[in-house]
Amino acid sequence: MSILPEDEPLSIPQLIAAKGQERISMLTAYDAPTAALLDAAGVDVLLVGDSVEMTVYGEPNTLSATMDSMIRHTRAVSRATRRAVVVGDMPFLSYQADTSKAVENAGRFLAEGGAAAVKVEGGGRVLPAVEAILAADIPVMGHVGLTPQSYRKLGGFKVQGREAESARQILEDARALAQAGCFAIVLECVPESLAAEITREIAVPTIGIGAGAACDGQVLVFHDIVGLSPNLRPKFVRRYADLSSVIQEAGRAFTKDVKSGAFPSREESFTGQKPTTLRRVH
Ligand code: KIV
Repeated sequence: MSILPEDEPLSIPQLIAAKGQERISMLTAYDAPTAALLDAAGVDVLLVGDSVEMTVYGEPNTLSATMDSMIRHTRAVSRATRRAVVVGDMPFLSYQADTSKAVENAGRFLAEGGAAAVKVEGGGRVLPAVEAILAADIPVMGHVGLTPQSYRKLGGFKVQGREAESARQILEDARALAQAGCFAIVLECVPESLAAEITREIAVPTIGIGAGAACDGQVLVFHDIVGLSPNLRPKFVRRYADLSSVIQEAGRAFTKDVKSGAFPSREESFTGQKPTTLRRVH
């Protein structure tokens, strides 16, 4: 039997048990229709990432994410998901400043957003918040290496852990998060040798993004893999579809039909005779 069954809702213990047995696939999702499609496609984990600020809202970074906005997106994803584990990304300053506020905010992702877990960026510095959230029985996914919420301090979106001291710090952070009880750890933009070492060292799955093939799973941003962020193409992204062209072509064809009068046809118009229900009411 598969560790991650295809036809039943996945659980966090199943993800932990997958380490070394089956690789975990994770993609971002921010809305119900996309979540339903990715869930049906067999993606194991749907991350409602604070990257929504950049991909959907056009912001230059993730720092503008708010709790209310993240909860709204998480709820939409959870409502449409049957199998995947839904993880809500805790936004900047929702867990760093105050430990009890961190627990309260993490709880909102489960109670209001319907998520199974939260993700928190950072290592030792955020350990007290992570421990407090875990003590409230809220599963936590860690995230080390390039942590986009720290990009001002890091001086940009750069590969981390290339020097011995920073590699040592990232390894120590990953170890501390795993020992505290995180069920998985995202490794973002670190050398593949470091990701391999962390993956060997810790007992829970590592999920890599720009961290090489040795990780226990891989995550990418949905908009990047379907070509909806055409001006941004990091080395680690593989593009599986070109939705930019598909959408542009649909917009062009619609506009052409409107201008020429080819849309709408008689079949796409009402006659005024039969009563017609437009939509199902839930
Ligand atoms: O917000 C996000 O999309 C993320 C992934 C890149 C891991 O944190």
